[in-house]
Amino acid sequence: MTPARIGIVTVSDRASRGEYEDKGGPAIVEYFREVLSSPWEPVARVISDDQTLIEETLMELCDMQGCCVVVTTGGTGPAIRDVTPEATVTVADKLMPGFGELMRKVSLEKVPTAILSRQTAAIRGKSLIVNLPGQPKAIRECLDAVMPAIPYCVDLIEGPRLETNPDRIVAFRPKK
Ligand code: MTE
Repeated sequence: MTPARIGIVTVSDRASRGEYEDKGGPAIVEYFREVLSSPWEPVARVISDDQTLIEETLMELCDMQGCCVVVTTGGTGPAIRDVTPEATVTVADKLMPGFGELMRKVSLEKVPTAILSRQTAAIRGKSLIVNLPGQPKAIRECLDAVMPAIPYCVDLIEGPRLETNPDRIVAFRPKK
């Protein structure tokens, strides 16, 4: 069985210059290792907060690398260089605002500054793009909330069948 490809994009000026260790990308790999029981492989990138570069990277992972899910971390806040949601919207065929709404809701139970994240999600072709904040601990908090719906979303966009480890996440697929 061909492994599903999952794109992992760390968006950080400092991590891309090597001034800061990328903790977000490895935390996302670790998360999917725990949660997915079907075969998958990561396609990881570490890039600066440059909107054109983020757009090109998202397009490459969706269109050339065939990633069914692309998760970004970082660049979702209000700072001048935070442009990951803008890049996501620019390359989107469809917006998936429910992802951002739910992730902000659960994050607000942990940290009052969750409202500062403009994280969103989108469909491009047969790929689902999901933005996460840059804080490594936000990765688990946010992905735990939206993960139950991701396998069915990938089914609907004609991607590979993703199976989860039920001890961690029970994927919800409505009965036809
Ligand atoms: N969400 C969760 N779950 N945990 C967090 O620690 N940090 C918040 C917010 N959302 C946070 C979170 C903060 S402090 C900011 S500034 C925004 O995410 C944007 O972060 P980013 O610019 O690194 O993407």
